[in-house]
Amino acid sequence: MTHILAIDQGTTSTRAILFDARMRPAGIAQREFTQHFPQAGWVEHDAEEIWQTTLTVCREVLASAGLSAGDIAGIGITNQRETTVIWDRESGQPLHRAIVWQDRRTASLCADLKAAGHEAGITAQTGLLLDPYFSGTKVKWLLDQVEGARARAAKGQLLFGTIDSFLIWRLTGGQIHATDATNAARTLLFDIHKGTWSREICDLLDIPMAMLPEVRDCAAPFGETTLFGGAIPILGVAGDQQAATLGQACFAPGMMKATYGTGCFALLNTGDQPVTSQNRLLTTIAYQLDGRPTYALEGSIFIAGAVVQWLRDAMGLIDSAARSGELAEQADPAQDVLIVPAFTGLGAPYWEPDCRGAIFGLTRATGPAEFSRAALESVAFQTRDLWQAMRADWSAEADTVLRVDGGMSASDWTMQSLSDLLGAPVDRPVMQETTALGAAWLAGMQAGVYPGAAEFAATWALDRRFDPGSDDATRDRRYARWKRAVAAAIGV
Ligand code: G3P
Repeated sequence: MTHILAIDQGTTSTRAILFDARMRPAGIAQREFTQHFPQAGWVEHDAEEIWQTTLTVCREVLASAGLSAGDIAGIGITNQRETTVIWDRESGQPLHRAIVWQDRRTASLCADLKAAGHEAGITAQTGLLLDPYFSGTKVKWLLDQVEGARARAAKGQLLFGTIDSFLIWRLTGGQIHATDATNAARTLLFDIHKGTWSREICDLLDIPMAMLPEVRDCAAPFGETTLFGGAIPILGVAGDQQAATLGQACFAPGMMKATYGTGCFALLNTGDQPVTSQNRLLTTIAYQLDGRPTYALEGSIFIAGAVVQWLRDAMGLIDSAARSGELAEQADPAQDVLIVPAFTGLGAPYWEPDCRGAIFGLTRATGPAEFSRAALESVAFQTRDLWQAMRADWSAEADTVLRVDGGMSASDWTMQSLSDLLGAPVDRPVMQETTALGAAWLAGMQAGVYPGAAEFAATWALDRRFDPGSDDATRDRRYARWKRAVAAAIGV
């Protein structure tokens, strides 16, 4: 048994990546799936389609590498977090389409709960805020809105899980209903201090606790699957941002990573102490090993790579995402165009679900190049929001370096502008598959074929460091203008 199979179930595609005995990628298969937008602000996935893409990519990657189940020491699962699935315990059929993390349909429910004074208590237990982003209010919506759901749930016929949980259920033929601590920590239902589901919050949201999965460590036995020609154990599970934190080897308190996918998610390892943010960041579990949680401060930005997709698909300004950096480079330095990409509201540190995007500083000479630069810079400005909030919350030993990964980190132009705006070095590793690697490492370590944390961390290798080019006065002036633009967008 020489390989580990990582399943990376993301927001827009499902991927299977094989890693060999030396933790090097040895094959990859990928399938996109349908995004459903039934109403403005609503985003759904068909859990059945997600399952089919999972089966397809796993079979494909094994076949193309010429491997069989007997060659695989274990499976590691990593996934889009918060996305909510409810399914029938007997048939395994989803009750409804999955409600995706980006979905805003429970904004008014969150506002009502906030107005009733529930946010402080929920934050104290879960480390999260009352925002539609998290699973809890999505579960409530499904139970309230799908005909007959409440009665079925009361009879114990329905199960809830994030995507990891649904995949584990399907992979094990309905034998295991479990999740890991990092995914549980994103549901709004999990007490991250006690490591248990919160009865109080479940009662508040009227969610029967019998629906909830069992919570396990990130590296632990999660049953086995026989769907690929022989038994393969599932040995590692982590939400995708936490898996990337592991893949980036951010094991020491103070280390920080930012992953640029559809959105951007920055995590700062705070060790065995959960830190309560004074700046509207989230407190979450970075990973849990041997029953011991390691905590993180997290900043979640909803639109990062998605702003480049917007330039390409909605605006037609570029024909490929890779073009955005080249175009930005041609922008007129005298024009200071700013885009606040609040297409689905603003995440950390603003948490304004109803805010929408805005553009400032247009002139008659503004063209595609200035748009492109402003779009890419909006990602850097938002990262600085998180960076500042994190350093304010946990100033003592925070690293002065940001490790980056994800699609947009391939753009030299964007990473340089990020370093300029942060006034700090930005490190891009050689290994770009950090999310899948993190999941593979968990499974490989549990299987006894991969090394422990210290030896694994020593394999992290730098591709390129971006050092800040601009001076403090320039970056602070530009950042102050960004803050005014955000305030104006929120005010409209
Ligand atoms: O919290 C949402 C996050 O886990 C989604 O990540 O990479 O699938 O966009 P991604």
